[in-house]
Amino acid sequence: MNQPAVAATTERPQIILKTPLHHIHHVAYRCRDAEQTRWFWEEVMGFPLRMAMVFDDEPGSGRKIDYMHLFFEMGDNNFVAFFDSPDDNINESTFTARHGFDLHIAFECDTLEELKAWRRHINKMGRPCFGPIDHGFIHSIYMYDPNGIQVEITIKAEKYAEICAHETEGAREILKDWTAKTRERKLQKFGAEALDMRGIDMGKVDMSKVKVDIKPHHKPE
Ligand SMILES: [Fe+2]
Repeated sequence: MNQPAVAATTERPQIILKTPLHHIHHVAYRCRDAEQTRWFWEEVMGFPLRMAMVFDDEPGSGRKIDYMHLFFEMGDNNFVAFFDSPDDNINESTFTARHGFDLHIAFECDTLEELKAWRRHINKMGRPCFGPIDHGFIHSIYMYDPNGIQVEITIKAEKYAEICAHETEGAREILKDWTAKTRERKLQKFGAEALDMRGIDMGKVDMSKVKVDIKPHHKPE
């Protein structure tokens, strides 16, 4: 059996900056239609539309293309964002419901009552919503946005901290065992070169048209 090129470590990862990155500013997806997307994220999910910016060239490449970049604000002031780009070479299949393993986004609420109230509200808005599903450490309900993105709302289980602490203790060892157990199946599917690389092969990415134009808001210290 081939061994992974990079051995699993039991040491804590080195934190190279003084402050770890602390939250998501935004996640961004492609949408079929800005207004359809606004309906779901604003009226069903309750995230107000904060920005609907229209551009006619792609940042970096300068490619001429009309698109809108939309931002909906979550309860913690961060954003779920979308691109509406009608002239891109996409079709309806881009927006088929993605399997939860491929793509989903989870938001947190505080109590089981709130979670059930969310399910009732979402169903009332005409969107199928299922759950709560008991995952042990969290309980979740699920639905889809109009762009095929699975959306989850979750609450922490009563023993959340205890369960997470227990899982954290064994995580590196469990991952190591899993990697060894599944390696052969993955070698057959992906090959050793793909499996052992760290990052994608940039030799196959055309960066020639990318212009770097960073204007820092703060002077470096
Ligand atoms: Fe999840």
